[in-house]
Amino acid sequence: MAGIALLTGASGGLGQAAAAELQQDGWTVALVGRSEERLRSIYGSEALCIEADVSTPEGAKAAVMRCQQQVGLPTALAHCAGTTLLSPLHRTTPELYRTCLTANLDSAFFTLGAFVDALREAREPGAAVLVSSVVARIGVANHEAIAAAKAGVEGLTRSAAATYAPSRIRVNAVAPGIMDTPAVARIIGNDASRAGAAKQYPLPGIGNPADLARLMAWLLSDKAGWITGQVWAMDGGFSSIRPLVR
Ligand SMILES: NC(=O)c1ccc[n+]([C@@H]2O[C@H](COP(=O)([O-])OP(=O)(O)OC[C@H]3O[C@@H](n4cnc5c(N)ncnc54)[C@H](OP(=O)(O)O)[C@@H]3O)[C@@H](O)[C@H]2O)c1
Repeated sequence: MAGIALLTGASGGLGQAAAAELQQDGWTVALVGRSEERLRSIYGSEALCIEADVSTPEGAKAAVMRCQQQVGLPTALAHCAGTTLLSPLHRTTPELYRTCLTANLDSAFFTLGAFVDALREAREPGAAVLVSSVVARIGVANHEAIAAAKAGVEGLTRSAAATYAPSRIRVNAVAPGIMDTPAVARIIGNDASRAGAAKQYPLPGIGNPADLARLMAWLLSDKAGWITGQVWAMDGGFSSIRPLVR
């Protein structure tokens, strides 16, 4: 049964797709982003918007607390906040590395922590889905920082799933390949670069955020009630098959 879902990165491409899917499933969605103005420009003045920077422990706690104060305890978390970074190790400055780790790993760690704290205090079950990336599982050149961050997200997923299974709190992750969102607009900005990106994947085309959002909504639903600690790839086969070379 749907209840209240906390959605981070709600202003982003995947976040907007996830908001639509969760609402379709009957969830009341608390939309979290670092700018209320940006959220309102997307979702309108009536939407439940929460301005918070979930990459800090204080911001993550504030997001969960404000959700509780405004509508109630969130029993689902869709953590879509994050970035991507195409940069080889030798060109990744300490600042780029820190920014990448903060946006992707710190945000997942602190947001999941705040969500679990609230559920445990209320002695309620719940479900979270985090977002990894295809580059966590398979070596892809020029992705060292984001690969490290997302591998961390996958480890976090499995360990937290183990810790909180007895409390009936489920934790899963999804690991997409390239998806058509603002995060990669520069990489797939024209027809040639889009075709070049698509060529890397066994199945034709690139990912659709709406499809990943559907998977996330399903993982948060009761239908996935006996699934935890899993990382679900949606990557056109990239991470597990080697196409026949003709
Ligand atoms: N698009 C892809 O090809 C692809 C592939 C693999 C994995 N992913 C992952 O999918 C997730 C969603 O990405 P997307 O494609 O939807 O990107 P997006 O359109 O850029 O949206 C990401 C959102 O995350 C929030 N965010 C960024 N940095 C943050 C930070 N330091 N702290 C808190 N929030 C931050 C931003 O919201 P505000 O600025 O409003 O706070 C932004 O709107 C990310 O985890 C990304 O790593 C994407």
